[in-house]
Amino acid sequence: MILSGAATQSFSARLAAETGQTLGRVRYEEFPDGEQLVRVPESIEGRAIVVASTVSDAAHVQLLQLQDAAHEAGADEVVTVIPYLGYARQDVAETPGEPVSIRAVARAVSTGTDRVITVSPHEPSVVDFFAVQATAVEGAARLADTLPPLDDPVFLAPDQGAVRLARTVRDAYGHGVVDHFEKHRRNGSTVEIRPQETDVGGRPVVAVDDIVATGGTMSQAITHLEDPTAVHVACVHPVLVEDAYTRLINAGVDSIHGTDTVERPVSEVSVAPSVADVL
Ligand code: R5P
Repeated sequence: MILSGAATQSFSARLAAETGQTLGRVRYEEFPDGEQLVRVPESIEGRAIVVASTVSDAAHVQLLQLQDAAHEAGADEVVTVIPYLGYARQDVAETPGEPVSIRAVARAVSTGTDRVITVSPHEPSVVDFFAVQATAVEGAARLADTLPPLDDPVFLAPDQGAVRLARTVRDAYGHGVVDHFEKHRRNGSTVEIRPQETDVGGRPVVAVDDIVATGGTMSQAITHLEDPTAVHVACVHPVLVEDAYTRLINAGVDSIHGTDTVERPVSEVSVAPSVADVL
């Protein structure tokens, strides 16, 4: 039986359709002091699959509650699917006294589950923080299906770290070159940000990243593109907080494409089939 967090219901429904698993009912309640409670009204025989993207602290707590509720309802095995793993960007302590937040989160999640599956975490190595078997599924290839027909496209990563994703999307799309943005110091006071090697003038650009949250990284990079014919943004996790969408459009973006690890209007393509493959 699949048990879904409140913020991950369409992904869970897709996963249920892919796997033939029952989509279990979950009741979500909130107390006047803000504390949450989830209830699983049906009993569970065998395995429970808890599905929750941890897009907020509330979603984190809900995930832990769902794991516990699954055991209380009779599950003898709990698999936890976290399509978008929050806090994964906090994977090192920058200064003494700072937490490795994703390690703390992973420890908590591990106590209530037998296995963890996540999608395109910020760094693939974060799966090592879980105390149970944890698998990272790559969701970027699915983004190629969302793109329009493009003539001679340039797949651009905002930094070196996202080049792997840009290459994955390009390979799935079938053609185009891959490059990333780099800072070039012109003189003592001027820094220029531009693609490392490729001239994008007269060509369409697909800017690829794992997460778009505030849109700051992407919009800053895109502003520096010289005369592309169009700019499309493709990201696995369209977190899109605050005015991120507006910010990207104002920076010159023509379209934004994401997967359903985070439920947003741009979540056009599902990675549930890839998760179903490893369940
Ligand atoms: C950073 O390393 C990530 O890959 C993303 O580029 C970043 O987290 C995006 O965040 P924002 O949209 O807030 O700039």
